[in-house]
Amino acid sequence: MLSHKLHTAIGRRSDLLDGDTNALRLVDGAGDGVPGVFIDTFADRWLVSTRSNGLNPEVRQWIESQGNTCYWKRLDQHEKESPTHIAGPAQEESFIARESGVNYRIDFQAGYSQGIFLDQRLNRQRVHKFSSPGKTILNTFAYTGAFSACAALAGATTTTLDLSQVYLDWARDNFRANDLDPADHYFCKGDTFHWLKRFSRQGRKFDGVILDPPTFSRDDKGKVFRVEKDYAHLVALTHACLAPDGWILCCTNCRKLDPRDFARAVRQGTPGKKLTTLDMPEEYTGEPYLKSVWVHGQ
Ligand SMILES: C[S@@+](CC[C@H](N)C(=O)[O-])C[C@H]1O[C@@H](n2cnc3c(N)ncnc32)[C@H](O)[C@@H]1O
Repeated sequence: MLSHKLHTAIGRRSDLLDGDTNALRLVDGAGDGVPGVFIDTFADRWLVSTRSNGLNPEVRQWIESQGNTCYWKRLDQHEKESPTHIAGPAQEESFIARESGVNYRIDFQAGYSQGIFLDQRLNRQRVHKFSSPGKTILNTFAYTGAFSACAALAGATTTTLDLSQVYLDWARDNFRANDLDPADHYFCKGDTFHWLKRFSRQGRKFDGVILDPPTFSRDDKGKVFRVEKDYAHLVALTHACLAPDGWILCCTNCRKLDPRDFARAVRQGTPGKKLTTLDMPEEYTGEPYLKSVWVHGQ
């Protein structure tokens, strides 16, 4: 019975939900015996994502019986629409959800993504751990600045870089949601590749850099970046503005890229540096699509 599997999957994760964390993946598709169905909770509001263009009636009925606010979206990289309200009270305002003691503004009306990528939970914890007062952390492809908030809460001075002004404003909201003053930090609008070259020309060095680019992107001059081909170049550009003991977090969710090829690309951009890989969080029981390689100082 699908409803039994859903119930079991959620029960299995109950230890991960506490006063510090109310945003979490609850059901991870085939890993929980429910292929193609993914449920995330954000402060008791649920988002169910499916690979198919609709929701299995048994899953839908079970969700309706739970009473939570629930929205649905179809997993599709080209989709721009916000999720659809399917159960419980509607959530029309943005609200705050919490992960590892950090607050994030979530918005079910903001388009395809809701404000935080929950699969980065362990990397966010590590960014917090590896940041401290006096350190400078650069968060590229920053989206809503979740990594920046973690680094800033540890006392570091952060630079948050994204193409989108909307996301940079959202990143400032995330700082304020954690009693951090955005004015104490830097927010840069623009292309990561241009900024990395500029920082390097200026001799600016960072103690930590986060790289989590989209699988494919195109800059304002039409130049294309593809994770499979160009990651080593991105890492090399980053290396040029890294302090001697600095670290880089390299991520990609490109499913086509083999983890060994990804580690090889990172190594190519940072010869001689120590690398470690980090597995996905335990609640991601399905396909391990997110690859994370940490480049360490010395
Ligand atoms: C996959 S999301 C990053 C998620 C983020 N690292 C996190 O964990 O919250 C990709 C982000 O990169 C931004 N972006 C895409 N191409 C870019 C570029 N060339 N330079 C800077 N930002 C870019 C997009 O606006 C989007 O916010």
